[in-house]
Order: sequence, then C-alpha cells, then structure tokens
Amino acid sequence: MVEFLTLDDVDVKDKTVILRVDVNVPYDEKTGKICDSDRLKEHANTIKELSKKKAKLVILSHQGRKEDPDFISLEQHAKLLKKHVGKGVGFVDDVIEGMAKKRIKSLKPGGILLLDNVRFLEDETIEKSPEEHKKSSIVKNLAPLADIFVNDAFSAAHRAHASVVGFTAVLPSYAGRVMAEEVEKLDSILVTMKISKHDTFVIGGAKPKEPLDVVSHMLEKGTLEKVLVGGIVGQLFLIAKGHDLGTSEDYLQKRKYMDYLPQAKELLEKYEKKIEMPVDVAIDLNEIRSEIPVERLPTNHAILDIGSETIKKYRKIIRDSVTIGFKGPLGKYEEQGFDIGTMETLEAISNSKAISLVGGGHTLEALGRFKINRGKYTHISLGGGALIKFLSGKPMPAIEALKTAAKK
Ligand code: 3PG
Repeated sequence: MVEFLTLDDVDVKDKTVILRVDVNVPYDEKTGKICDSDRLKEHANTIKELSKKKAKLVILSHQGRKEDPDFISLEQHAKLLKKHVGKGVGFVDDVIEGMAKKRIKSLKPGGILLLDNVRFLEDETIEKSPEEHKKSSIVKNLAPLADIFVNDAFSAAHRAHASVVGFTAVLPSYAGRVMAEEVEKLDSILVTMKISKHDTFVIGGAKPKEPLDVVSHMLEKGTLEKVLVGGIVGQLFLIAKGHDLGTSEDYLQKRKYMDYLPQAKELLEKYEKKIEMPVDVAIDLNEIRSEIPVERLPTNHAILDIGSETIKKYRKIIRDSVTIGFKGPLGKYEEQGFDIGTMETLEAISNSKAISLVGGGHTLEALGRFKINRGKYTHISLGGGALIKFLSGKPMPAIEALKTAAKK
C-alpha cells in the first residue's frame, strides 16, 4: 500500500514546484553527446502535466559521478527534454547562486527551468536524513523560493542525497507520476509473487557498490537463490576467485573498482554455490571479439564481455527461474561484437516464463539498441540500483522521506 501523497492530492496552479527527476543517462565519451533515454521521455510526462496545470517548474537532476567522464552539465538534457515535453525548457548553468535564483523568481505559470547538475554541489551526495539535509546548500538556498516539492526520481530513490530527501523536511512533498507508478507497480508484483524470495539476480554494469550490498543482504536473509555476474562486477568476482585478469586489472585499479574486492571475496567465501561467474570471457583483439576460457587468463587484451559458454550457462539458469531481476549490462554493449552477452541474456529473460524485472540507465539504452520486445518483461524500471534495492526489501530513503512528509 502506497502511503505517500501524489500529484492527485495537490493543486499546483501558480505554485513554484521543485521537481526532482533523474535524467542521468548514458554518455558517449567519443562524441561528447548524451544518449536519449526512457528516463527523459517518462519524466517529460510529469513535466508536461505540471506545466499544463500552470505550476512554475524548477527541475533538478544529477548526471554521472564526480571524477567519472559522464559527470557533465545538464545543458544537453534541457534540449532533449524540450523535444519530449514539446515546449521550451529553460536552462541555467547554476544550481544555487544568483543566476539560478533570478531565473526561478522570474518563472511564469507553466514555465519550465532546468538547473544544472546538482552533484556540482559538494554536499549533495553525503548520505544523511531529511532533517540533517535541511542544512544542505541546495535546500537552504532553493526551498525558500518554492511552495512544494515533487520527487519523480524513482531511479535515485535509493540515495539519501540532499536533493532527493532534503526538501521533504521543509516543503509539502509529493510523489511524481514516475515515482508513484513505479512504486505501485513493483509493490503489486511483489504481492502477486506471494513469496518474498527471488530466484535469480543478473548483476552487471559498472557500479559494484549497490549490487554487492543488496546481494549480500539478500543472501544473508536467504531471499535470493542465484546471482549471475558480468560486467565490472563479474570481473571483480573472477579476481576474488583467484584469477589474474591481466591488463583489465589496471583499468579496475584506475577506476577504484578494486576497493570492492574484499567484499566480493567475502561474499564468495560465504556463498560460493549461489554466485555464478563467467567461465569464459570475450576479449578485444584489435576490435574483433575473441573468446578465451577463464583458465587461460591473464590476457593483455581488454575483457569486454562474457563468453558463449557463460551465456549458455546463464540461459539455463534463467530458463529454470521463477523470478528474475536484471541490473546493468554484462559487457561493453555499446560496441558491436561485445553486445552479445547482454543481448542474449536479456533475450533469454524476455523469453522465459519468469516474473522478470529489468532496469537501469544503461539497460534501458541497451534494450533500445537490441529491439527486444519490451512487452515480454513483467516490468521495465527506470531504476537499476533502485530496482534491486526495492526488490530486496531494504528501505528506500526517498520513499521513506515522502511517507514521513505525508504524515505531517
Ligand atoms: C542510476 O543510474 O542508477 C541513478 O541515476 C543513480 O545514480 P548513482 O548510482 O550515481 O547514484
């Protein structure tokens, strides 16, 4: 049962609304361009509705993480949002300083303004309670200019960051359409499952922290049977198992992924039978895919995908599963030849009879490229980390904050 307020519970006419969305999308380092995404399309519907109801709309989002190549300004996002919303979306390359404030104050009813990447603010990503985040720079500076807060960012709902939870402590707060629909849909799927246990999680991608925490929590509670790993997470488990990957390890070191190795080792020691890892990998031989069994590691070539034997092994487990969660690609799906692991695994899930829940920024993009019939999944979520955390039953800071706000 959803216990927060939604856009059905408020009249936004002439009100200044701070709307938190999540337009964190894949970014192509070579071209410097962001990719269009379902995240932009879906949030555009909430934006359209609020603008039509004559709210003065101030939109907040993050993009990337400090030190990562995709940690960029939201200028391009404003242009894509404009396309999806079908009307002007103003942009200011500022979040809390004079320019942003001036533009907010001059918004007209129905007007839309996107501020810059909230993670440009030093104190944005500190994990804190809503009460503590009252003092964060974004809440202190923007809340006095606004009447209400709407959180539409389901895919960032697992983060207790300033712009995600802070406003709920000081402004009347509501769930946006994306947030409300995701929570309602996922809640109803969990109810129909009747059991709070998942058979299989397929975990890939390049963000090991959240999946490792979630998987470890679920394995400890006995609510997860099998974890199939790929991507950076898969490489960490291979090292944890004692494999020397070769040059790929330099990349893992450089990007600080090795910090998660102790956690992967501990998980493997405790739950070896439940964690399925690649038995072969695809390497980049001058831009041509070549496969080697993991026994033949190390390699001087970059490991960019899981191999065919691994795909076969994973397909079989997927076929026998009753519920499946999928987060994060299993290889460098953006490059032809290294998209096979992700594509075939996603296809196997779509063809299985299991209750299937797939999501995440890169997964959405991959689904678009592969042209898989999306209707065959039980639910496609905008969230990746948020999706698996929700499925694990762990509390989601943004949802808890909205519930607390609703009681006020
Ligand atoms: C995501 O892509 O999962 C969300 O935008 C959250 O991003 P984060 O993992 O960098 O907090």
